[in-house]
Amino acid sequence: MPDIQPIQFDGEATSNDVRAKILQQEPFAIRTFTPSQCVISHSAGSYHFTPEGRKLADFTSGVLVANLGHNPVSWWNRVIEYLGLGTIKEGGEFANCVPLTAYNAITEVEAQANERLIANLQAAPGGGRINQIMWSASGSEAVQKALWAAMKRKPGKDMIIATRGGFHGKKGLAGAVTGSEKDKERDHRVQFISFPIEECDDVETRKQPIDLTRYQQELDALWAEHGERLCCVITEPYLGGGGSYHPQKEYLQLLESFCREHDLVFILDEIQSNFGRTGPMYAFSHYEIEPDVVLLGKGLGNGVPVSAAVGRNDVFECLGYGEASDTWSANPLSSAAVLATLDEFESTDALEKGAHLATIIEAGLIRLKETGAISRVRGEGCVWGIECADVGDREGAVIANQIIEKCYRADGAALAIHLLGALAGKVLRISPPLTMCPQECQAYLDRLYDVCQQVANT
Ligand SMILES: Cc1ncc(COP(=O)(O)O)c(C=O)c1O
Repeated sequence: MPDIQPIQFDGEATSNDVRAKILQQEPFAIRTFTPSQCVISHSAGSYHFTPEGRKLADFTSGVLVANLGHNPVSWWNRVIEYLGLGTIKEGGEFANCVPLTAYNAITEVEAQANERLIANLQAAPGGGRINQIMWSASGSEAVQKALWAAMKRKPGKDMIIATRGGFHGKKGLAGAVTGSEKDKERDHRVQFISFPIEECDDVETRKQPIDLTRYQQELDALWAEHGERLCCVITEPYLGGGGSYHPQKEYLQLLESFCREHDLVFILDEIQSNFGRTGPMYAFSHYEIEPDVVLLGKGLGNGVPVSAAVGRNDVFECLGYGEASDTWSANPLSSAAVLATLDEFESTDALEKGAHLATIIEAGLIRLKETGAISRVRGEGCVWGIECADVGDREGAVIANQIIEKCYRADGAALAIHLLGALAGKVLRISPPLTMCPQECQAYLDRLYDVCQQVANT
């Protein structure tokens, strides 16, 4: 058993105590590593607060969940209203409150969420094929359910093409289509093709045209070998957990046309990108593709656990009664959260705010290369990855951890920033809420510049 010691920082009595207790009573396996292990007492908008009263800008939005910021008041009021909690009287009961679980039953709030989400998807360029929703609670479950449906669509066709280096979750089939054939005990129903990592390893590289010949050849070879058994292609708009690689749109269009040519289900995992992360409501719009199935999660409920596979009814209806059911799918709290989140996006300028913030983030991150701590910058909209350089005898992964810790600690009056543990070893994710105040975001980007400079010169 590894001897893991709780992370402790001077002057953080309460946080240190919580960190130590958590480590005693929970296996560390449920938490990814970060050198800060930030303890959060409360959060509002784009900020977290520690029990010691320190304020940190949240450059992660949870993990790309709180696209509208944490606990927005108007959003909560809407959730409460959809749940029927807004009508409670003094001394009364929650007489009009929907149940929090409605297994083997149906609530009107679920029907409302279906109608609104389908309308929102169909209004988006590329959403024309979507007419049904298969709800679930976590991203991996949505992936699993979509793959089950695709695998049952035609007898004997149970093989999946996934893109190498992707992240779709850790459980079941979601784990099987994550990473590559090298990572695990192979599920031989999953075949991988290359993702154009070299062609988009930096914002500048991505501006170059992409040569698709190699990818077309890989697809053709797979078809020649396994065409009889292939049922679907699953990919992400950009490799998220794999290190923030945002491809030229022609690559995704190639996968789409391969699916059309061979009648395969084209599944796009937008669990990380949905609800405005890359600019438009859904990334499929600006990649100019029309998936058969889209996987939604994270920002879909702005913090309430909810996910969904949305797509063609003729695909989903291949599953029989109960085959995709579970305790939490379409629970009323998640339906209320989806409705409230849709309300906010449809009635406010959240997307425009995100588009404006994107320009500030892009410029601020590209500037970080001057410090020598950052070698590559990749991203779009409000989702970016900065790759840490090797500095002297310190590898990029060490630099990444030093930046995270320094951003967290922020001695004296310096601004503090909350960052996720590095992706793919040395890539720091920068993804603040779309609604973060642009001037404040600029100030925190300037602070990140100082931190990178200090780390590089240590
Ligand atoms: C693109 C993508 N798909 C699927 C998942 C899995 O979601 P969950 O952790 O909710 O199971 C994630 C999580 O980070 C993701 O980024």
